[in-house]
Amino acid sequence: MALDRAIVRAPSTIANVGPGFDVFGIALEEPSDRIEVRRTSEPGVRVESIVGVGAYAVTLDNTKNTAAVAASKVLSVAGADFGISMRIDKGIRPASGMGSSGASAAGGAYAANLLLERPLDMNMLISCASFGEEASSGSRHADNAAPALMGGFTIIRSNEPMDVMRLDPPKDLGIVACLPEFAVPTREARKRVPKTVPMHDVVHQVGHASSLVAGMATGDMGLIARSLDDVIVEPARAPLVPFLKDAERAAVSAGAFASFLGGSGPCIAAFFDRREADGLVIAKAVQDFYEGHGVECFCWNTTWGAGCERVMQ
Ligand code: HSE
Repeated sequence: MALDRAIVRAPSTIANVGPGFDVFGIALEEPSDRIEVRRTSEPGVRVESIVGVGAYAVTLDNTKNTAAVAASKVLSVAGADFGISMRIDKGIRPASGMGSSGASAAGGAYAANLLLERPLDMNMLISCASFGEEASSGSRHADNAAPALMGGFTIIRSNEPMDVMRLDPPKDLGIVACLPEFAVPTREARKRVPKTVPMHDVVHQVGHASSLVAGMATGDMGLIARSLDDVIVEPARAPLVPFLKDAERAAVSAGAFASFLGGSGPCIAAFFDRREADGLVIAKAVQDFYEGHGVECFCWNTTWGAGCERVMQ
């Protein structure tokens, strides 16, 4: 029987994952957004309420709200004869580099598809969600929405047509995501991306991106560690995140095998082997480092996780 109401959990994600600007993403087990949708007889999508962290920074305007734009796209692609009212509970702070808008866009698209009895496939849902990202950041990148929908580690081969692959990262891959109290809007961070790139940097990046995929596919954490190096985008954005390199060094000194800028920042992501290192120690090292500079920093000690899913309450 068709659903009249559904609640969806949409996970945070780390986009880029080192060398894969706009291509790679990984879903985190926590934090996440929750989106509740109800079928309405009037057409279109109405955002009833937004609560949670950073809710004040998220618009109710259904032409600009990422979840509403993504859900509207799904309704229109599927030719739905009903509308949706939506309540959003933000667990992911906007402008964090942890895929806040991507999670809401993915959750909105996924929830609309549930009410429609799932007519759209994953690539189509990711494409619809990318319109939500565009409403928020001005760019239709899908490297947060893709892992938020599919879970695991995702690779966007092509945006047009959308073609995304998913891999299971190694089961012992731990992830610490640290959020110093700076806000870096993706729209601003994208202005820092270089327009031209020297060929030797392209060669470096392609080599590292390729070996990162091989490391994820074979579960080789040593190879993942050696591959997490971005010589193009992170250096250009580093000035937006005070103490970025020092914070990454603090994570590695505390046991992470690599640390890098999460998405467009300011999230500092650290990967570690859960059999060998303690995520709480890594998190505390980054937190202590920032607090020593008078900056509050909240960290999640987590791992990779599943994509959007229906929850019962
Ligand atoms: N790939 C995007 C960027 C992700 O780096 O701008 C934004 O979180």
